[in-house]
Amino acid sequence: MTFHKLFAASLSCALMSSAALAADYTIGFSQVGSEGDWRPAFSKNMQDEAGKYGVDLKFANAQGKQEEQLRAVRAFIAQGVDAIIIAPVVVTGWEDVLEEAKDAEIPVFLVDRDVDVDDKSLYVTRISADFNLEGKLAGAWLAAESLGNCKIVEMQGTTGSAPAIERKSGFEAVIDQFPAMEIVATQSGDFTTEGGKKVMEAFIKSTNNLDGICAAFAHNDNMQLGAIQAMKEAGLKPGKDVLMVSVDYVPAIVDAMKAGDANASVELRSAVAEFIYPVITDYLESPKDLDKWIVIPSDLHKAE
Ligand code: AHR
Repeated sequence: MTFHKLFAASLSCALMSSAALAADYTIGFSQVGSEGDWRPAFSKNMQDEAGKYGVDLKFANAQGKQEEQLRAVRAFIAQGVDAIIIAPVVVTGWEDVLEEAKDAEIPVFLVDRDVDVDDKSLYVTRISADFNLEGKLAGAWLAAESLGNCKIVEMQGTTGSAPAIERKSGFEAVIDQFPAMEIVATQSGDFTTEGGKKVMEAFIKSTNNLDGICAAFAHNDNMQLGAIQAMKEAGLKPGKDVLMVSVDYVPAIVDAMKAGDANASVELRSAVAEFIYPVITDYLESPKDLDKWIVIPSDLHKAE
């Protein structure tokens, strides 16, 4: 082969591989923030896996602020991305920006959390776990462990967020079936370790060292990990004096379960890019009506 032919062959090879590497779609992702252990793991999975699905992901971390999310979504619309993914901080306040995306003919996909809008045509689908079911799984486990007799303290997630609303309602739907099960104190710890610690410190004071309390239900593991710290500092034995059940099943709660400080956690999968990207890229290839909710399964894990 002459030098010219060799050069031409390697040039076309280089062009082919750069074409193969080029992303097929540019997608904007407005993420809630980086609270707790679960969310950063979810963000990393979405960022790490994007290339595999031909996606150039524009990632925007809203640091827990809805105004930041609205700004990011409007910036994605202005850039003319192919699709927008939103994990909404709270359920309300989305109509206007979703209308703007619709006017710009940019499809919106909800992941993880839900929005409360009357017009469901404003987004294509929500791809997420069933938070209500997670609350029910936690409640059913506790009903079985306590034989339906339990005074409970509850640490709620971010006020107005879908997981806080839905986990609470699922949990209550189960415990309401048992006359001797009751939530005696409830407060938001905003899904953070520090928030959970502060809330548990307040519960310890208001209940005279958790006197008569049989369980702590936290809407996520990080709040439960903060609660465990607070209880230990007060000389209490989490996982023994009080049953500890939460949601996420992050590595730190698995360690706490092994150490006997926590009893059960409902798994919220963080490696969910494999469920999300194919739905979006298939839709972009041939748009069609999808079910409004594509559910990712959740399971409860108990300490051995
Ligand atoms: O929306 C899911 C919840 O958000 C997770 O359970 C929690 O850890 C996160 O902050």
